[in-house]
Amino acid sequence: MGKNAIKKFIDVILLGLFFYEAGFMASASRIHEILGCVFFVLLIIHNVLNKDYYMNVGRGRYSRKRIAGVVVIGVFGISVLVLGISGVAMSTHLFPNIRFLSDWNVRALHLGAAIAAMAALLFHVLMHMGRYMQGKKFCYLTGLALVLMIGGIFGLPYIERWYHPVNINLQETIAGEKVDFSGKVLTVYFSRVGNTDFPEQVDAVSGASLLKENGALYGNSQVLAMMIQNAIGGDIASIQTEKNYPASYNETTKIAGDELANQSFPVLKHKPPDLAQYDTIVLVYPLWWGTLPRPVASFMQAYDFEGKTIVPVVTHGGGGAGDSVKVLRELAKGKVTDPLSVYSSDIPRFRNNVTNYLKNFVIGNTNE
Ligand SMILES: Cc1cc2nc3c(=O)[nH]c(=O)nc-3n(C[C@H](O)[C@H](O)[C@H](O)COP(=O)(O)O)c2cc1C
Repeated sequence: MGKNAIKKFIDVILLGLFFYEAGFMASASRIHEILGCVFFVLLIIHNVLNKDYYMNVGRGRYSRKRIAGVVVIGVFGISVLVLGISGVAMSTHLFPNIRFLSDWNVRALHLGAAIAAMAALLFHVLMHMGRYMQGKKFCYLTGLALVLMIGGIFGLPYIERWYHPVNINLQETIAGEKVDFSGKVLTVYFSRVGNTDFPEQVDAVSGASLLKENGALYGNSQVLAMMIQNAIGGDIASIQTEKNYPASYNETTKIAGDELANQSFPVLKHKPPDLAQYDTIVLVYPLWWGTLPRPVASFMQAYDFEGKTIVPVVTHGGGGAGDSVKVLRELAKGKVTDPLSVYSSDIPRFRNNVTNYLKNFVIGNTNE
């Protein structure tokens, strides 16, 4: 194989690996880490084979196209460097002992760098294509690249949510620093797990909201509620509907949509605990259709919350707290604070943020 053929071969593998890694949610994290390292080794080989390009950077005339080409490669280089460094810092299999940023920041950095690298790569490939294609065809290609890029930017976090199986160690996930919380507090949560007939071997794909420990399922809001209780103590209770939701995510969304359209109050399984003894109710629930799940409305309807403080904590897939707090305020006479909203994929690493939020809450930073 000649040098040019080797170069092309490596380029194709690099491109394939890049997009496979971008869709890493479809593969186990160990494979993602190993392939990430392979990508870096191949990238170094690619640069060595193309060293002539770097030798000539300072030479000759610079047309606008050439400047754009250098800038795109520069952005790609920096993004890939950040990807690599943040990747090492968040690796749990190959470099578990290297940590220099909070898990949360490092994840954001990694995702941001992946998006920047993807944008630069698409433009880089486009510029190569420009040599073979002109006029309308090139415009269509640019349009397609932009659509792919925007799809990638907004789609990646969603794909991750759907395809990345999340295995947790429950005790490690929920345990952390304690926060002094005055008054008696009850943490109440509503979660899909506990209200759904899941088959024995349910996988993460059918859930989008399921965390697993040794095969046992936990809901996002459930785990977040456990973290909160671990931090502030007090009691914990769950809201359970008499009728379970189906295992299929899509069917559940349909039923939830009907409940919402009818403003129904699904019947709850248990008489909720006696709230008289509590000053503060931390209410943890998922965002459903941009608002409050109707079973939580049933819980709110069952009580008179006068004189109590309700702290809404919302888990979501990108929609934040939606208008759920507005609905809560309509249903509750008591004081409802501003919500804490948590993106579902962040939950397994959210314990420190829970501590910080609760500390701020205790010193009165939360507005009504
Ligand atoms: C019926 C239903 C509707 C949902 N609607 C939304 C939504 O409108 N916006 C959003 O960001 N996430 C939505 N989600 C995603 C959940 O809010 C998210 O996955 C949450 O963390 C699930 O928590 P859980 O595991 O405790 O049930 C919805 C999930 C379900 C099951």
